[in-house]
Amino acid sequence: MPDSAPLDAPLLADLRPGDSFFNATWRISLAEHRAYKNRDAGFFVVCTVADNTGSHEVRCFDKPPLALEELHSATFVRCDGKVATGSFHGQISLEKVQIIAAPADLSRFEMPVQGDFKAHQARFGDLIRSVRNPHFHALLKEIFRRDGEIWPCFEGAPAATNMHHNYRGGLLEHCGEVALLCERLAGALPHLDRDLLITAALLHDIGKIEEMECDFSSGKIQYTHAGHLVGHIVLGSCLVASAAEKIEGFPTRLKHELMHLILSHHGEPEYGAAKRPMCAEALILSQCDNLSAKIAQCAGKLEGEGDFASTGQNGWHSLPHAPQRTLYVGKMREMREESS
Ligand SMILES: [Fe+2]
Ligand SMILES: [Fe+2]
Repeated sequence: MPDSAPLDAPLLADLRPGDSFFNATWRISLAEHRAYKNRDAGFFVVCTVADNTGSHEVRCFDKPPLALEELHSATFVRCDGKVATGSFHGQISLEKVQIIAAPADLSRFEMPVQGDFKAHQARFGDLIRSVRNPHFHALLKEIFRRDGEIWPCFEGAPAATNMHHNYRGGLLEHCGEVALLCERLAGALPHLDRDLLITAALLHDIGKIEEMECDFSSGKIQYTHAGHLVGHIVLGSCLVASAAEKIEGFPTRLKHELMHLILSHHGEPEYGAAKRPMCAEALILSQCDNLSAKIAQCAGKLEGEGDFASTGQNGWHSLPHAPQRTLYVGKMREMREESS
């Protein structure tokens, strides 16, 4: 029996520090146990909840209301809770959680695009137009044709299941950001092949449209069969090679250089690279890709304020995938508050 969100159910974007809320109806994902800083104190449960205004990490302390296994299998929950003030400013705690059936109207839960999507589209178009090499330019225009099969999948895709740019439009934002970083470095280092670098940057993660599938209604992002077996690096390289082969007169040497930049953009084999970077352009692309992902992690922590429990200090965040590291985003927050 489909459920429905109560009319007075709060949206995530409307919650403010100090608020108590009732009957909040959210999508849920990524439930996990996390240890208290004092490990003898045991574990609490951390989940990510979302609606069509965004997503947020939430916590269940002291006797989690539902077992972790139940939360893992849940897609929608109804919760009561509160938003903290003081040193845990912005942290959302759940006090009552009930798993519910999928609501009849899913529009309330549709994953929103994040950031300035129109600006990211425009930046991507500007970068394509800036490529002067006629072969690379023709390739980019063909792959990213607005009426083609790839563009509608590409522009809405997330760049990852978690870690960085893992939201609708994240892939477009990330690839444009990497290309912009590469362009700035190409300006400072004029002996580089700027057009090879920008073309590869725009295309470097194109294989992600085959590697992952995203259900915008449920918010679930998961790996496809091809994603598990082949991965976006090789999938992307094959896609680009096959598109280049269809363009009359596309030089084989340029095709191989482009493939090399895509195959090596994760830098080292332990991070999934099929080849180590063997030229300056490949080194720069892999560094800019890494930089974009790491800075996005800081920005993501800035948006998901409230993750202070692991260190007890405002602005410090734990990294679930790297328990030995913490991130400080207090400076970024200061800068954002000054500019707003
Ligand atoms: Fe990648
Ligand atoms: Fe990337």
